[in-house]
Amino acid sequence: MPSARSSSAVVGQITRGTTGTNRLRRVDRWIARHAALRRAADPLVIDLGYGASGVTALELHARLARVRPDVEVLGLEIDPARVARARAQLAELRAGTTSFAADAHVSFARGGFEVPVPEDRRPAVIRAFNVLRQYDEHDVPAAWTSMAARLSTDGVLVEGTCDELGRIATWVAVGADAVPRTFTVSLRLAGLERPSIAAERLPKVLIHRNVPGERVHALLTALDAEWDRAAAVSPFGAEHRWRTSVAALEASGWPLRERSRWRLGELTVPWDAVAPRTED
Ligand SMILES: C[S@@+](CC[C@H](N)C(=O)[O-])C[C@H]1O[C@@H](n2cnc3c(N)ncnc32)[C@H](O)[C@@H]1O
Repeated sequence: MPSARSSSAVVGQITRGTTGTNRLRRVDRWIARHAALRRAADPLVIDLGYGASGVTALELHARLARVRPDVEVLGLEIDPARVARARAQLAELRAGTTSFAADAHVSFARGGFEVPVPEDRRPAVIRAFNVLRQYDEHDVPAAWTSMAARLSTDGVLVEGTCDELGRIATWVAVGADAVPRTFTVSLRLAGLERPSIAAERLPKVLIHRNVPGERVHALLTALDAEWDRAAAVSPFGAEHRWRTSVAALEASGWPLRERSRWRLGELTVPWDAVAPRTED
């Protein structure tokens, strides 16, 4: 398993450690399908900023191991106390007293946006969820650049935000060149009132951009309008209503990707479709 380099240059700041069991299931499911993992020569995955408990890193490993049994997950936290806590959880796992596999390829270390892994290894995936939300919008480009610089050539940084229960999630996929590729919205459809609830959980780079004149605002507004129009098919279920809505969105010219994932309450667009239009 990878061991961390010196902790003398840890980049970032300790923030609230809120996390929870199953919270990141939507993004884990998306990563499990991603070519960056499936085709990785070295399937090393980083859970950066896992929080007060290591549970999301353990769950990430369990989900990804179903498609890549050789996956390794390294949880990195900037808070040394949280590293100690996760390592204690790992000891319980190794003793076979948890629901996770005792031999799961998971480890925990201290680290920040510099993503300390041995020099000869390049992560296929870095998942940084609910981390940048507590930073300033102006901190985002440098954090992306620092994390992306560690990725393998075809690797992906998945940076996003979700609510406490993981029912509302959005994320940006960023390439090894630090250029964003796609933006995804993933919603629990049962009980969904309006898709624009996603506005409350946008990644930091977009959170202040949900205003008229910005592309992400146009997307969420158009999605709400199609959702309202599709109310007539509600008796067939929320999934049917969602698929009707996003199909109409596509027909109106939005460049939607990953059609096969619509049934999951997902919607992915190229980054250019939502990229911030204005500078502060
Ligand atoms: C809100 S928790 C998120 C926990 C988990 N990822 C989740 O989504 O449930 C954010 C965590 O990120 C950590 N953090 C903040 N900046 C970091 C950085 N630059 N590198 C590593 N961890 C960081 C904080 O210490 C905190 O524990």
